[in-house]
Formats: sequence, C-alpha cells, structure tokens
Amino acid sequence: MSKRETAVPGYTHLAIEPYTPNIGAVVHDLQLANTADEALREELRRALAEFQVLFFRKQQLTPEQQTAVARIFGDPDKAKAFFPRHDRVASIEVIESKPGGHVYGTDQWHADITFSPNPPTGTVLYSQVIPASGGDTVWTSATRVYDSLSPGLRAELETLSAVHSFEHSGWPRFFLSLPNGEALYRQARAENLPVVHPVVQTHPLTGKKLVYVNPNFTDRIQGLSRQESDALLALLFQRFERPEFQARLRWEQHTVAIWDNRATHHYAAKDYGSQYRLLHRITFGEDRAF
Ligand code: SIN
Repeated sequence: MSKRETAVPGYTHLAIEPYTPNIGAVVHDLQLANTADEALREELRRALAEFQVLFFRKQQLTPEQQTAVARIFGDPDKAKAFFPRHDRVASIEVIESKPGGHVYGTDQWHADITFSPNPPTGTVLYSQVIPASGGDTVWTSATRVYDSLSPGLRAELETLSAVHSFEHSGWPRFFLSLPNGEALYRQARAENLPVVHPVVQTHPLTGKKLVYVNPNFTDRIQGLSRQESDALLALLFQRFERPEFQARLRWEQHTVAIWDNRATHHYAAKDYGSQYRLLHRITFGEDRAF
C-alpha cells in the first residue's frame, strides 16, 4: 500500500484521508474484494466508527463480494426495506431509477429502516450507473447534531421517545403506484407496525450520544401534543441540515460508500431528471442496534 502524506496516523493497513473535518473519509489504494486480512478488517470497522461514512473509488465487486464486504461489519440478512431485490443475491436491494419509470424518492433525510424495531447498523452502497450530473448523496452526522445542542435541551431530549413508521415516508405512495399496490401496502402495514425509539441513543462502539429522529420515518414524540412534537422535531431536523455537519459525495461508476446507519442520516438528491441511476445496496445489522 502506498503511504499518502494526507493519511490519518494510527492506521497501518489503510490510507485514510478525511473528507470533511466533521464527517467522512476516503480510503485510498484498497480493493474491497481483497480484505481477507483480519487486522485490515479491524481497521475498516474502526474507521467506520470514527469517520461515520467511508468512500472507496474504482471498486470491482461481484454481488457476492459486495455481500462479503457487508459481512465485515455485520449480518447482511437483517432488516431490509421494500426495494426490489437482486435476482441472484437476495441481500442486495436494487435502487434503480429509469427514464420514464419509477424514480426512487430517497430525497428526504433518513437513517435506513428506523421503522424497524432493530434497524440496520450500516449500509454498503455500490454505484453501477450514475447520471452525467446530479444524483449525489449527502450524509450528516447525528453525533455532531447532538454535540451542537445546549445542555438543557440535551437533558430534556434524553427523557423522550419517538414513534417511527414507514407510513410517514414515501413508501405508501410507491406501493399505491404498483398494479397490485393496495394488497402490498396492506401487507407492509401488517408486517411493519409503528415502533418507538429513544430520541437520544448512545453509539455502542464510540460511546458518543446521537440524535435518533429523522423526517422520513419519525412521526411524533411521545407524550407531547402534536404541535409541541412538530415544533421540537422541526428544530432537530433543521440542525441536521447544517452544511458543516455534512459530506456530499459526487458518485462515479463503481464507487462504494459504507455508512454507519446509527450515527448518520443521508439524503439522495433527486436532481437528475430522466437520467438512469442504478445502485446496489446492502444493509447490515446486529442482533441489537443499540
Ligand atoms: C438510500 O437511501 O439508502 C439510498 C441512497 C442513494 O440512492 O443514494
């Protein structure tokens, strides 16, 4: 591995370059297909916890190899969303926006699948076809958001829990656009009842506190009136929009982004009109996310 002047000290197997001061890093000179070495895997896990989202350019991965990469960090067969699955490797969700077809609406801040009782701890997203321009993804740090709040508000938030539901998101509209959508929607509702998560969580690997509500899936804060809940959530959601807590990735074909789904939110810019965009996503998890 070539050593770069910008590389972060303390990593002997990885050449890591911070992407912004607050979130994100690029890992250079590594093919994720060649990560059998346990010391290197340990550094990848440490880097993900430290930087919250990692970017790898020019990767060559088969669907099976992408699954093996996810397995470095967790179990690739835990919670999944409602995207179509890869025809050979079921742990891969296919995010495909076609000219004249469906454009997936992940253009809303969210952590993946927080409507599940045990959300994924992370995600491996691998770009296959990227628009000539547009379609960037942006991540923002939930630990930085927590750190930015005043001590009084932090203390109040620690006493609160919030209801998360997929019905709050764009998924119902997606189901209803399908030919057998009513039945699929009814089934999704029966299988995914609303869940409750604490508003502040502690990351089990870093010990850092983070704000765990997102506009896509969080419906309301328990014990508050609708008006109070909406106002408090709006304040928190606005904090996630601060550019200095964010990292914006301009995708190229065969870029891999791996993010910590506990410590970040993300947003896929839907600014690419009728251009084709195709990515393979694998969420991974543990028996308990927190
Ligand atoms: C996602 O929300 O997990 C997908 C993000 C993207 O399409 O860039």
